[in-house]
Amino acid sequence: MGNPFYPSYGILPKVFLGREDIIREFLYGLENAPGDPNRSTAITGARGTGKTAVLKEIGKEMLRLGWIPVYVLMKNELLDDIYEETIHSCKEHIKQESKRKVTGISLFQVSINWENIEQEERWEAKMHNLLSQLTEKSIGVVFEIDEVQGNSEDLRRFAAFFQQYREAFKIALLMAGIPHQLDSVFSDKVISFLRRSRLKQLGLLSASESKILIRKTFSLSHKHITEEAVDFIAEKSGGFPYLIQLLGYEVWESAADDIDIEQTRAGVNKAETYIGSSLIELILQDLSLTDKDFIYGLAALRTPAKVSDLMEYTRFDRNKLNQYRRRLDREGVIYSPERGYVDFVIPYMKEYLSERL
Ligand SMILES: Nc1ncnc2c1ncn2[C@@H]1O[C@H](COP(=O)(O)OP(=O)(O)O)[C@@H](O)[C@H]1O
Ligand SMILES: [Mg+2]
Repeated sequence: MGNPFYPSYGILPKVFLGREDIIREFLYGLENAPGDPNRSTAITGARGTGKTAVLKEIGKEMLRLGWIPVYVLMKNELLDDIYEETIHSCKEHIKQESKRKVTGISLFQVSINWENIEQEERWEAKMHNLLSQLTEKSIGVVFEIDEVQGNSEDLRRFAAFFQQYREAFKIALLMAGIPHQLDSVFSDKVISFLRRSRLKQLGLLSASESKILIRKTFSLSHKHITEEAVDFIAEKSGGFPYLIQLLGYEVWESAADDIDIEQTRAGVNKAETYIGSSLIELILQDLSLTDKDFIYGLAALRTPAKVSDLMEYTRFDRNKLNQYRRRLDREGVIYSPERGYVDFVIPYMKEYLSERL
């Protein structure tokens, strides 16, 4: 029996916990009439809060209701990926046209290139054909588009198609992305209907959810852990899903079969050495230079920091400070514990940044 924790992105954990409201509402939308607003939902939150995990968990749950998830990561060839993935995920339910794979064969100097012919068939017509077959059999399709980013011609075309056929076909849309990327999609005038999607923000898990998650995950293995140790991991993770997996993983690795608080401390120390490269740096990559000036300033102060002290340190004027404060709050990086104060949301971020000042 191996380690039951998975400290990596995009994988459904062995034990998935919390987020019940989001999951219930989306599934409710699938059972309800086609016009239900939940049938277009966007999930947002900082990296590591569990957006992809929610997509995958919902993907599992919807099968019972006769819906099939079509999961794609948003890349350059979004339309092709959606088409290919729909065929792949629904292959038992659709008639496959015979694939004409003959390319570049010369017959008496006449070059036949079937692939070009196929590509010329419009994407919309091909999707229409697939979805008609599925809707006829009363099978629904949920397009799950992960790591959504703005300004893509393919996304515009997909959105227009979705909007046009959302009543005629049994289809729904579930997107995930970090906040400013989702914002840029929503502010695109061409696909303004997306703005009416249900927006769900993922935050931290509660202390009791974190403890149950840790306890349940350990119980999938043969190693036994004390309550005190569970509490310690929960507290150190701050309820941040990725950190629960990372700390749990290292504690499990470094401990014998009966895990006490001493072994747990050692495991957590080990995990701490990876938090910078596996989480904080990834979050920093998504931020602008001025965002970074703001958070390095915050890291230099005692937190929660007074907004006026932060203004003095960063030399931002009030407008600029407020603007970046709102941005970073929305991004899930900082929050306001009380009026006039700001602090970091993500555990270990302050320590990591202040070491680098
Ligand atoms: N609700 C949850 N319960 C248990 N583990 C979770 C949960 N949400 C996320 N995780 C774990 O946290 C890590 C990050 O999740 P992921 O979905 O990849 O984040 P995101 O897509 O937001 O960057 C993964 O290891 C995942 O298994
Ligand atoms: Mg993800």
